This record gives sequence, C-alpha cells and structure tokens, in this order.
Amino acid sequence: MTSTNKYSEFIRNLHSPRAFLPEPMPVEDIKQVLEDAQSAPSNSNTQPWNVHVVGGEKLKELSAALIKEFDTNGLSPDFTTDYGEGIHPQRSQELAAKMYGLLGIKREDKESRVEFVRENLRFFGAPHAALLFIPPMGDRVRAAFDQGTYAENFLLSLEAHGYHGIPQGMISLIAPTAREFLGVDEDYKLVAAITFGTADESSPVFNTAPGRAPLSETVTVHGIEGLELD
Ligand SMILES: Cc1cc2nc3c(=O)[nH]c(=O)nc-3n(C[C@H](O)[C@H](O)[C@H](O)COP(=O)(O)O)c2cc1C
Repeated sequence: MTSTNKYSEFIRNLHSPRAFLPEPMPVEDIKQVLEDAQSAPSNSNTQPWNVHVVGGEKLKELSAALIKEFDTNGLSPDFTTDYGEGIHPQRSQELAAKMYGLLGIKREDKESRVEFVRENLRFFGAPHAALLFIPPMGDRVRAAFDQGTYAENFLLSLEAHGYHGIPQGMISLIAPTAREFLGVDEDYKLVAAITFGTADESSPVFNTAPGRAPLSETVTVHGIEGLELD
C-alpha cells in the first residue's frame, strides 16, 4: 500500500470528542462540509437525508427545550434503543465504563451520570449541530443506512477541514421536542444528530479510544485464498 496509507491513517484517527470550544465555524467551512456530505452514496440515489443545521442562540434554545423535556418526562425515541443481548450491549457497557472512568464518575453516582446525559443534550458545548431526519419511506431501514453514509462523509469532511464532530443518538431519544422546535413534520423520524465544531483537546473525553473488535469477530471470508483475519 502506498497512497492509501495516509488515507487509512486519516480514517482510523477519526474519533468522537465529547467536549467542544464555543467558537463557531466560518460559514464557508460549514457549507463545504455540507457539500461533501451531500456527495454521499445512497440507495438508487434517493438521498433520503433531511438535515436541519442549528447554531447560535437557536442551538442553546433547542438544548434548553430538550433538557426541560428530559427532566420532566424522560425519553421519547422514534426507534427502539434495544441493543439485544450478548456482545453488542457488552461493548456498549465497556464504552460507558471507560467514559465514566475518564470523567472520574463512579458507577453508583447516578446523579453525575444523569448530568452527563444533560451534557449530551447541551451538545457537549459545541457551536453547531445537524439533526438528521428520515423521510417517510417504507420501514426506513434503507434510508437509515443512507443516513450512515451521509454522516460518515460529514464527519470525515469536518476532520479534513480541521474540525471535529460526534454523532449523537442521544438527541434522537427526545425526538418530538426536536421536531416541534424545528417545525419538522411528524412523519420525519429522527435517528441521530451530528454535533460539530472545534473540539476541546484538553478534555479527558477528547478521545475515549474505546478500540475495536478484531476483524475475526465481525468478518467472515468466503473463497478468498490467503485472507486470514486476526
Ligand atoms: C449513530 C451513532 C450515535 C451515537 N450517539 C452517541 C451519543 O448519543 N452520545 C455519545 O456520547 N456518543 C455517541 N456516539 C459515539 C460512539 O459512542 C462512538 O462512535 C463509539 O464509541 C466509537 O468511539 P470513537 O468514535 O471515539 O472511535 C454515537 C455514534 C454513532 C455512530
């Protein structure tokens, strides 16, 4: 591998910061990132991403509305939050343990954990967020996949322009409030937001580095002689 090495390094260095500086990005840079994200592939080129980009006072107001709803009524997601059983919830628990460990929050300290949920709803102090809504299309699974390609383009573009982003499923757990605040039709379902700006590199959760499973846990090879996975 020659030229792909640099790109591989770039991809593998991508990570999710959970603390941002408040300074907004120049609007030209936001536009570039949106153009890059827009170039994502999608099923039959349907481009089923309906994106609401929020910043400034509007983002603060949205955050306040989400926190108020969370504190009053709890969660109201459009989709289940069930990770099933076995390895998937186990990985999620390992991430939580690592993250709370870095923040010095103990397992039994429920209030600090709830406060960290509120920190999610404060968009980790970031100046911008893009909320990704899925239009009414069948069972929405194909569109959700396409949202993933869009989101990854978005995140890679941020990184390429010297910024950072984190996908936030947490925002979608209070979907009706987000819809009402942004004036989005009830048929448009929220799966995630991407929170973005300049990350606070001094934060203990700038890079939680949760690692990844070995390839042999997730990939099965058929008919490719010599491709052995660790
Ligand atoms: C669709 C999606 C939703 C996510 N939602 C959240 C979230 O609500 N809050 C959070 O702190 N991290 C969230 N993350 C970040 C993941 O926890 C993170 O990508 C994973 O732990 C791997 O860590 P890394 O991105 O730092 O390598 C989300 C990631 C994705 C792809």
